[in-house]
Amino acid sequence: MGEVDRINLIFNNKIYRKYLEKNKSYEENRCFCLHDLEHFLDVARIAYIMALEKHIDISKDIIYASALLHDIGRWQEYKYNIPHDEASAELAIEILQLSDFNVDEIRMITEAIKNHRGENESSSLSSLLYKSDKLSRKCYGCAASHECNWSLDKKNLDIIY
Ligand SMILES: [Fe+2]
Ligand SMILES: [Fe+2]
Repeated sequence: MGEVDRINLIFNNKIYRKYLEKNKSYEENRCFCLHDLEHFLDVARIAYIMALEKHIDISKDIIYASALLHDIGRWQEYKYNIPHDEASAELAIEILQLSDFNVDEIRMITEAIKNHRGENESSSLSSLLYKSDKLSRKCYGCAASHECNWSLDKKNLDIIY
């Protein structure tokens, strides 16, 4: 028997799908960056490429789990004004438990989710998630660029990944 495919346990989890839909409905008319599945996969792939390039020893499913879940609570920021790093870390716990992640892995992933909005070198996963999240944004082709609150040095104007 092969290993459990934990990435797709998350992806097919009903609660996960429900939160994806909630993010989508709150962002229907948003002109800035979205917090949707496409963003989550961009972050996952960039983080995984960076880990391979830099020989960072974190497994693929830990990287994908962090990326797939890092903004899953964005709708709670729209609805309740709860910072979405905190909301996402909180909502991720149940989904990770149901997807066969153990206590130590859940702690590591939720810590990286909590840290994803500010550069934090407390763990290599935190820093990987922060960097890939920023690098994933397509500022070079964005129509709302002039209204965006990202400073010019933060914006991605060149292709890096
Ligand atoms: Fe975020
Ligand atoms: Fe993000």
